[in-house]
Amino acid sequence: MFSYRHGFHAGMHADVLKHAVLVQMLAYLTAKDAPLWVVDTHAGAGAYSLESSFAQKSGEYQDGIGRLWGRAGLPPLLSGYLSEIGKLNPDGKLRHYPGSPQIALQMLRPQDHLQLFELHTTESKLLQKHFAKAGRRVSVQAADGFTGLKGVLPPPSRRGLVLIDPSYEDKEDYRKVVAAMRDALPRFATGVYAVWYPQVQRQEADDLPGQLRQLAPGDWLQVSLTVKAPAPDKLGLHGSGMFVFNPPWKLEAALQEAMPALVKLLGQDKKATFKLKFQQS
Ligand SMILES: C[S@@+](CC[C@H](N)C(=O)[O-])C[C@H]1O[C@@H](n2cnc3c(N)ncnc32)[C@H](O)[C@@H]1O
Repeated sequence: MFSYRHGFHAGMHADVLKHAVLVQMLAYLTAKDAPLWVVDTHAGAGAYSLESSFAQKSGEYQDGIGRLWGRAGLPPLLSGYLSEIGKLNPDGKLRHYPGSPQIALQMLRPQDHLQLFELHTTESKLLQKHFAKAGRRVSVQAADGFTGLKGVLPPPSRRGLVLIDPSYEDKEDYRKVVAAMRDALPRFATGVYAVWYPQVQRQEADDLPGQLRQLAPGDWLQVSLTVKAPAPDKLGLHGSGMFVFNPPWKLEAALQEAMPALVKLLGQDKKATFKLKFQQS
């Protein structure tokens, strides 16, 4: 069932958007002293080597983080993201790319908790190994993140960020994301939930943001980055988006400033663009 390995795609344009938004949200949410719970339902391996045969074979990171690396004068959302990537590459050479769990680990404080789910056997073993010395504030479960989410909401601290980041290789993921959000919101209505979604040529992908919007009980934000025109053969990813329930209130302004720069940096043809929608109730 599983052939997806995030190591092929680590650092690609979709990771840049997802992780730049994640870094910004974590920065806002850790500005208050109260403990924060971060749940990553589809964690991956934790961190990746860009020198691995996976990354070198696909080369996808070169059109993602590779285009931002070493740039100065970027909007704060992008410079904050780059500084987190820099922590894994202290000599200034881009060799490693942090997954969402590693980014969270870097930004969380001693009072916070990180709850990780990963179903793929190989990836979950790598994840366990990566976090073996992280101590009790990180829990790793080799389990289904969609069902696991039910058991961890609401978090004891009543302050939480949930990242839902499936690969959507299985088209059932679209339905499962909506079902997971329908179940999670009544359990923890004030949580911040960030759902990553692909821009691919299939009906389920087109429909997903609208279905999420209908579920939102309060504020929401939707941001997408299209890097190129959809392919004539209808295959491949031409962009991606993040749908955020209960976004931190400064996120929209930070994205308004950053997204035009991201389109210039990551755009591959004239169809490159972004969309940003925000609703405050
Ligand atoms: C896009 S990758 C995650 C990347 C990671 N969140 C990051 O940003 O670095 C999706 C991961 O979800 C895993 N996966 C697939 N179905 C799952 C499920 N039902 N529950 C937990 N993990 C799952 C895959 O094995 C894959 O490692």
